[in-house]
Amino acid sequence: MSPADIVMQRIEVLGKISDEPQSLTRTFCSPAMRKASNQVARWMREAGMSVREDSIGNRIGRIPGNAAEVKTFLLGSHLDTVRDAGKFDGPLGILVGVACVEHLRQKKIQLPFAIEVVAFADEEGVRYQTAYLGSKVLAGNFPARDLKRIDANGVTMTDAISRYGGNPAQLESSRMESTRLVGYAEVHIEQGPVLEKNNLAVGVVSAIAGQTRGKINFIGRAGHAGTTPMNLRKDALCAAAEFILGVEHYAKKIPGLVATVGQLATLPGASNVIPARVHLSLDVRHQSDAKRNLACQHLERFARKIAQKRHVFAEWEIIQSTNSVPCLPGLSNLLAIATAEHQGKVLRLSSGAGHDAAVIAAIAPVAMLFVRCRGGVSHHPDESVKKADVRMAISVMNEFLQLLAKSK
Ligand code: HGY
Ligand code: MN
Ligand code: MN
Repeated sequence: MSPADIVMQRIEVLGKISDEPQSLTRTFCSPAMRKASNQVARWMREAGMSVREDSIGNRIGRIPGNAAEVKTFLLGSHLDTVRDAGKFDGPLGILVGVACVEHLRQKKIQLPFAIEVVAFADEEGVRYQTAYLGSKVLAGNFPARDLKRIDANGVTMTDAISRYGGNPAQLESSRMESTRLVGYAEVHIEQGPVLEKNNLAVGVVSAIAGQTRGKINFIGRAGHAGTTPMNLRKDALCAAAEFILGVEHYAKKIPGLVATVGQLATLPGASNVIPARVHLSLDVRHQSDAKRNLACQHLERFARKIAQKRHVFAEWEIIQSTNSVPCLPGLSNLLAIATAEHQGKVLRLSSGAGHDAAVIAAIAPVAMLFVRCRGGVSHHPDESVKKADVRMAISVMNEFLQLLAKSK
C-alpha cells in the first residue's frame, strides 16, 4: 500500500470512532477520544516513534534527530471533531505527519532535528466551548479558570481531564519551551472553495483569521402561553430571535466579517410556557482583529438594546478571543518551494477557519499546507478529499522536511 493509501485507510478507521452511534462526534476527553488516541498511538509506534500522552491528553509521537541536543520540529493537528463531523478535519494533519515519519524511517534519514507529531486533545471546543485546549497547554497559555467550566452534563473540565487519565494540576509541566522548537507545520483541509476553483491539490496558508467565541443569555420570565397577553410578556426567545437575525444582518454589511450563532438552548423548553431563559453561542471572525473586536462591541450593544426594549436581561460573556496569526515567511517559503517542486503552481491563501497553528505560533514559527476538499465542504459528513491530493500533500511535506534540514 502507498503512504496515501495508508492515510486514507486510517482516516476511515478514525472516522468510525465516535461518541455518537449515527454520526462522527469525538469530543475532548470522551470515550471515543480515548479509543482514537490509543489507535493513533499504535500507528505512531509502528512508525518507530516513542509515544507519550501529556497532562491534558495530547498524544505525542517522537523520533530523535541525528544528535542528542538537537531541537524539535512539530507536525500534527487535532484529534477531536465537531458534532456530526467530516472525517478529515484534524486527523488528516496527524496522519500525514505520521506518514512523513514513516518515510524518514524507510529512507533511513536522520534529520538535524527531532520530530514530534502531535494529536491535539481539543481544538474545536465542542465540549466546553473553549477551543484550542490542547495547543494552549503546549504553548503555556492555558487559562486555568477554564478548568472550572462545566459541560452539558455538569462535569467540570478538571474532572473530565482526571477521569480521562490526564492531570489537571500538571498542565503547566506539559508546556513546550520555544527555545527547544524549530517550528510547527500543520496539514489541514482548506474547508473552503479556493483550491478547487484554482484546480490545485494544495496551497500554502498566508494567515489564520482571529476568532471570538461568546456566550449570551437572554433572561425573561416564564408564563402561561394561554393566559399571558402579548403586551405583558418577557419572552427571552423572541429577544434572542431578534438578536440572531440582527447578527446575520450586521455581518452581511461588513466586508470580511462572519458571525454565527451555532448553539441555542431555551428554558424551560415547554410548548405552553413562555421561554424564560435562552443561552446562545456567538462566533465572530475577521482577518482584522480590530474589525472583529469592533463588531463584538457593536453586537453587545445591540443585545443590550433589545433586552431593554423587551424588558428582559442580557448577559454577555466572551469565552475566548484568539488574534489573527500570520504564517511567517521563513517556514512558509520553504513550504512554497516544496509545493512548487511537486505541484508547479503555488497559491497562497488565508484561512477563515481557526487552527492549532494559531496558538502554537506563540512559541514557534508556524506554516500550514491546505489540501483541497470537495466543494469546500467541512464540519459536515460530506467532507471529502481525493487520495491523489493526499499523495501530493505527503510528497510536499517530505520535500519540506528535507529543505528544512538543509537550511539548518
Ligand atoms: O472553528 C474553526 O475554525 C475550526 O474548525 N476549529
Ligand atoms: Mn474544525
Ligand atoms: Mn480543524
